[in-house]
Amino acid sequence: MNTKKIIKAAYEILEKSIMYYEGKPIGTIAALSSPDLAAANYEECFIRDFVPSALVFLADGRTDIVRNFLTTVLTLRTRERTSAGHEIQPGVMPASFRVIETEDGEVLQADFGEKAIGRVAPVDSMMWWVILLYIYTKSTGDKELAKSGEFQDAIQQILHLCLKDSFEVSPALLVPDACTMIDRRMGIYGHPLEIQALFYAVLRIADKLLNKQGSRLKNDNSILDTAAIRQRALQSYVRIFYWLDVERLNEIHRYSNEQLGADSINILNIYPESIPDWVVDWLPENCGYLVGNIGPSRMDFRLFTLGNLIAVMFGLATDVQSEKIIRLYETKWDDLIGAMPVKIIYPAMEGLEWRVRTGSDPKNVPWSYQNGGNWPALLWPFVAAALKTGRGDLAERAFQTAIVRLHDDNWPEYYDSKTGRLIGRRSNLQQVWSATSIILSHKLLEDPDLLKLLPR
Ligand code: GLC
Repeated sequence: MNTKKIIKAAYEILEKSIMYYEGKPIGTIAALSSPDLAAANYEECFIRDFVPSALVFLADGRTDIVRNFLTTVLTLRTRERTSAGHEIQPGVMPASFRVIETEDGEVLQADFGEKAIGRVAPVDSMMWWVILLYIYTKSTGDKELAKSGEFQDAIQQILHLCLKDSFEVSPALLVPDACTMIDRRMGIYGHPLEIQALFYAVLRIADKLLNKQGSRLKNDNSILDTAAIRQRALQSYVRIFYWLDVERLNEIHRYSNEQLGADSINILNIYPESIPDWVVDWLPENCGYLVGNIGPSRMDFRLFTLGNLIAVMFGLATDVQSEKIIRLYETKWDDLIGAMPVKIIYPAMEGLEWRVRTGSDPKNVPWSYQNGGNWPALLWPFVAAALKTGRGDLAERAFQTAIVRLHDDNWPEYYDSKTGRLIGRRSNLQQVWSATSIILSHKLLEDPDLLKLLPR
């Protein structure tokens, strides 16, 4: 089957996934309804899953649905505030929402994590919402939407929530486990890279979205100044402390420990003994990546694809680091791209580590689902990041690896095994962001100028 026909088939999935409220298109469901659905909430519109749908709609000039989505999510945020004795902070946005039929007509119902498996509150939703608002504004030229009072309030509340003092000493944002694309327990509590990369993008675009004066919140004149300072601090912190290449590995390998005071070098007190065996001989020369998470005496050496690719796309990684990250995917192609792009995490956790860190989660067994599965939804960020670093050849290669197989397999959500050869054991079929990822990758390859819409 040729590319044109496959793209057409992907569009059919996208079309069927559109969710309507009072006759208006407001989002896309996560997977088309079928007996194969792994969980009922796949019939909801997830904020993060809608991002590639939105980029496709914007590129096709179907701006209404994106505008409706942004507005809908905004109203949901203001409507549902309390949960068992504490207030959900204004600013927090739902992981997903659905339209339900009642006797009085259609009603929107949001999930802030209080209904999701494991009761996970999403931190990435509000960040993706801000990023999508920025892209919408840039793509359509419609500045009025972001300027309206409700939108201004929401952006400010999100900034307040992320910038307010808590128990932090570093510029990275402290969050719970499972609050990202990886929404089950996977040992990512603390300072996961994906959140830092999204947070960075939000800080970077805040001044382009917020009106400089006329804040409707009290004591708010300095929020943009604080955002700018935090953005710079976060940028250098991530570029230095999350970065890992052979040179840095050598440094950590010979680190001194237990250093007190302002002049210490090993400020997080990382013990060389904590370097896992796999990384030492696996990491190629002239390549590198940002590690998954850091904290006191803790460096999570696992490679998380989405965080790294967002860091490349949105300019959190330096140009040299970005090139090295993409070169790592090239050099370790079988491990990281394999039979289906792209590996979500490398390597998988096994044995005792899997038991302790996932709580023996049978869906996240080694080399499956979020624990080292391969996710077609990660293809478009890979294509975008590869194009950004001048590696259109790798973007094309990954796209060609995915396209026919994904279509023939009926758009699975994820693949299992070290090289991603098997359709995921509990994978949905007709997963919408698997289909939109192909459409969007194709668009980016045809017109790399689309990258200019992204925050950078
Ligand atoms: C899974 C994924 C999550 C996604 C959701 C809907 O829970 O981990 O990232 O948003 O499915 O597709």
